[in-house]
Amino acid sequence: MVKVKTVYICQECGHESLKWMGKCPGCGAWNTLVEEQVVQNKKNTISNIETQSVCIQNIKSGEYERYNTGIKELNRVLGGGLVKGSLTLISGAPGIGKSTLLLQSANNIAESYGKVLYVSGEESGEQIKMRGDRLNITSENLFILAETNIDIIEKNIDELKPKFVIMDSIQTLYKPEITSAPGSVSQVRECSNEIMRIGKLQGIAFFIVAHITKQGELAGPRVLEHMVDTVLSFEGERTEEYRILRTIKNRFGTTSEIGVFEMREEGLIEINNPSNVFLEETSFNQEGSVVIATVEGTRPILVEIQALVSETKAVMPRRTVIGVDSSRLNLILAVLEKKLKVPFYNCDVYVNVVGGLNLEGTYGDLGLAIALISSIKSKFMKMDRTIIVGEVGLTGEVRPVSFCDRVVLEAEKMGFSNVIIPKRNEEKVKAEDIKIIGVSSLKEAISKVF
Ligand SMILES: Nc1ncnc2c1ncn2[C@@H]1O[C@H](COP(=O)(O)OP(=O)(O)OP(=O)(O)O)[C@@H](O)[C@H]1O
Ligand SMILES: [Mg+2]
Ligand SMILES: [Zn+2]
Repeated sequence: MVKVKTVYICQECGHESLKWMGKCPGCGAWNTLVEEQVVQNKKNTISNIETQSVCIQNIKSGEYERYNTGIKELNRVLGGGLVKGSLTLISGAPGIGKSTLLLQSANNIAESYGKVLYVSGEESGEQIKMRGDRLNITSENLFILAETNIDIIEKNIDELKPKFVIMDSIQTLYKPEITSAPGSVSQVRECSNEIMRIGKLQGIAFFIVAHITKQGELAGPRVLEHMVDTVLSFEGERTEEYRILRTIKNRFGTTSEIGVFEMREEGLIEINNPSNVFLEETSFNQEGSVVIATVEGTRPILVEIQALVSETKAVMPRRTVIGVDSSRLNLILAVLEKKLKVPFYNCDVYVNVVGGLNLEGTYGDLGLAIALISSIKSKFMKMDRTIIVGEVGLTGEVRPVSFCDRVVLEAEKMGFSNVIIPKRNEEKVKAEDIKIIGVSSLKEAISKVF
């Protein structure tokens, strides 16, 4: 049954080659091909029983059965709870809090639904117990297994029959038939296949922890992302207490939802109103500072963006950005130079999104442009407590954004007095306690705020 062949596999992208090469033809990385043995295992398929095709009308449908993880922010990113029999991958930098989050939710699920198995290949039972004591974890249905051999893990699962299993982490697991080291592409792939088979056959929900490389990529092949139902990423600066859980892929709900947490000694605490947190330290109307809004999934978040522009004699001026895509910044700088004749070529530019949030999308464009102008010209906004949203186009026009009504509502709720939005969004939004100002170009926005 088991046939072994030797191939060279790129550890970055999973590309397979029959002979060794210095450069991977798949992703172009150097020196990433490693000799590995691949087992062609007939057991890989989900079902061993012969299956037949069924007419779609005859398939029973219904809602997914979901477990409440006891953590609202985690339920949210999963699309409303953990789906029975689903396979979820959670990735994040070392020490970000993956084990903490999973131990907390494992305990909650064990308390309300039944047995949960936490498999750790990284820490001993005592270490996990010590963390558990700190997090006040007491469920008698929570079982710990410090093991890395997938066959032994499977045997434990068969005996225990848990509802939910956590694998911490996939890079430590190995299948004895495969000679490559744990964490190598073929081990990761085989072990995930095995987990998928166990999960789908027995209806067990699985959470798999995966490490990420220094570049922020998921270590191991991309195939992992394709195989699982849901991919979550846990982000944030380790030195700051805020952590953000983001959905990257979800077969049971929308993606780009986020959950916000604070890391404390007693564990991860949910933050139900992120705008509050991100604006906590904001002293309004400072030079170079603008409060913008962004929408993560379905959730509007208000956050401060800061720009500092200072003259330089360097041939290559600096462009340092944290929390904003640097090509977005370059685009906005180019529009400001060309359309408004504000020169930045002899200036260093620093941009920071306060609180460690990474802005995605184009909601922050207009606010960033205003912050840059405010800093380079040393000007203050004449309006007080103002939110700015809008995408900036290459001709200097302000383009509409989606979910603008939610942004306005959030701004109103947070007690802001003015909100500047794209003109084309203006007619569709209504608010009572906040003044709405529609603008159609960058020039118009600047003339209104300064
Ligand atoms: N006594 C403590 N008080 C407060 N925070 C703590 C304490 N001990 C640990 N932490 C926090 O917990 C974090 C480690 O959490 P955890 O072990 O869940 O992370 P992880 O993502 O699983 O890490 P790894 O990649 O090493 O497995 C530390 O970085 C620290 O912020
Ligand atoms: Mg851990
Ligand atoms: Zn490659």
